[in-house]
Amino acid sequence: TAVVEHTFVVSQVKMNRACRDSLVTVVNGQVPGPAIDVTEGDSVVVHVVNKSPHGLTIHWHGVKQRLNCWADGVGMITQCPIQQGSNFTYRFSVVGQEGTLWWHAHVASLRATVHGALIIRPRSGRAGTLYPFPKPHKEIPIFIGEWWEVDLVELDRRMADGSFDDNPINATINGKLGDVYNCSGALEENYVLEVEQGKTYLLRIVNAALFSEFYLKVASHKFTLVAADANYVKPYTTDIISIAPGESVDAVVVADAPPGKYYMVALGMQPPLPDTQIPVSETRGVLQYSYNPSQGKDLPIGAPVMVPEMPDLHDPITSFYFYGNLTSAFPHPRKGHVSTPSSPCGEFDENVILVATMNNVSFKIPTTEPLLEAHYHGNMSNAATLHELPDRPPIVYNFTDQAIIDFGRKVAALESTSRITTTRRFQFNTTVDIVFQSTTLLQRDSNPMHLHGHDFFVIAQGLGNYNAEMDVEKYNLVDPPPSGLFVTDNPGVWFLHCHYGFHATMGMAVAFEVENGKTLDTTLPPPPADFPRCEHPGSSLAY
Ligand code: C2O
Repeated sequence: TAVVEHTFVVSQVKMNRACRDSLVTVVNGQVPGPAIDVTEGDSVVVHVVNKSPHGLTIHWHGVKQRLNCWADGVGMITQCPIQQGSNFTYRFSVVGQEGTLWWHAHVASLRATVHGALIIRPRSGRAGTLYPFPKPHKEIPIFIGEWWEVDLVELDRRMADGSFDDNPINATINGKLGDVYNCSGALEENYVLEVEQGKTYLLRIVNAALFSEFYLKVASHKFTLVAADANYVKPYTTDIISIAPGESVDAVVVADAPPGKYYMVALGMQPPLPDTQIPVSETRGVLQYSYNPSQGKDLPIGAPVMVPEMPDLHDPITSFYFYGNLTSAFPHPRKGHVSTPSSPCGEFDENVILVATMNNVSFKIPTTEPLLEAHYHGNMSNAATLHELPDRPPIVYNFTDQAIIDFGRKVAALESTSRITTTRRFQFNTTVDIVFQSTTLLQRDSNPMHLHGHDFFVIAQGLGNYNAEMDVEKYNLVDPPPSGLFVTDNPGVWFLHCHYGFHATMGMAVAFEVENGKTLDTTLPPPPADFPRCEHPGSSLAY
């Protein structure tokens, strides 16, 4: 195995896109930032040099970090932010995972521009670790994102105090806005993926947006999905991909159409309600055939130029079926006792500020000491206000399937809540199943849940309200797709939150404390010697 080493210099630069100036926090001057390319089993060393005005951390999204919670990089959950002018080096290994993950800042909304791919290739020569599909001609990261005018730390401040009224300027593919005008009246660049006819491409697709789940299509082409969140899935062929914030999928595309220009459209599907002014978040890239590589790239006269037909903006069902069709390529049988804390989430009003909750508690990021340090030093009672997130919220709304279909039309009553730091403790090696019941007031928002440090499997999904007796029958305990069933096999403090930006910042989160096991190899080691300290406890906006 190798050691893959990178230096990430984080800075803030002024960029003009769509004829608007934004102050953008970037890594090594680029959006997306550098891709980390490893072979399964490799170690990764990343020196983060923070020259930006914001304290920040880098999270290795989806990396299990076994016995290495210290490197998980979540502001004030696992570590103090790396302050302006300081450095910190992350060290971790990528073991037992293959496919596409990504890295991103985990302080405020900075991840919208501070992100990049983490590509994990199979280790050849070892049985069972080659791609379970034909080797592609090329592998291409595709980041779907959003471009914001407002500074992303300011954006969080506005969300926290309720003055938030911002929308992204446009959606992006690999940082390109496409199809909007710049100051000289020309269109911004489209992302262009050049392909050769007959060849196979592996697209490593990540949704790095804060606000939108996206539908992605390429005109006249199909995707064969082969992995989701760095777990292989049974190959599934579809002409549309649905991808929520935080998720990654690997899809094979064969360039089997007549040479031409085929638009790739990413359509943000936080659909504007018919009666609001929220702009549609959409962008186009291009799949461009190199007609004859020896004679240049020009297409012949009359070559097809195709635009895909996108689903209706108010259609959540295409996405529901897309997820329903995913199953793991390899069985992950789960046996034994399953405990069932139910974790509904929703949005409620607290002194006229709209917040998001889990079990009617709105999570507050601690400001003095990171939870992991408190956990390690046995101080959790100082750091967290509530140690047992209640099992059920006071009110479970009577949502019917029809209410979901009537998308956005069902308005629940508001309920008051409190904003506190909550954790939930688990003994080592407990199999946990979580029921996520959406009680959301804004039915148009999806809730892509992300759990750090563990493999997290979807064993069932449904419309309407969860029914404990009936729904257990539908559990897929054989080959569930990755994404709330998990085993607490990794001691430390692990954040569970909605990856939809607005929701996490407003409190749709909880920290899971996983206790040590009985042996040394199930015990969290001490923190690295150069671990960042909190310089201005209490003053910084914590994430
Ligand atoms: Cu991708 Cu807690 O994050």
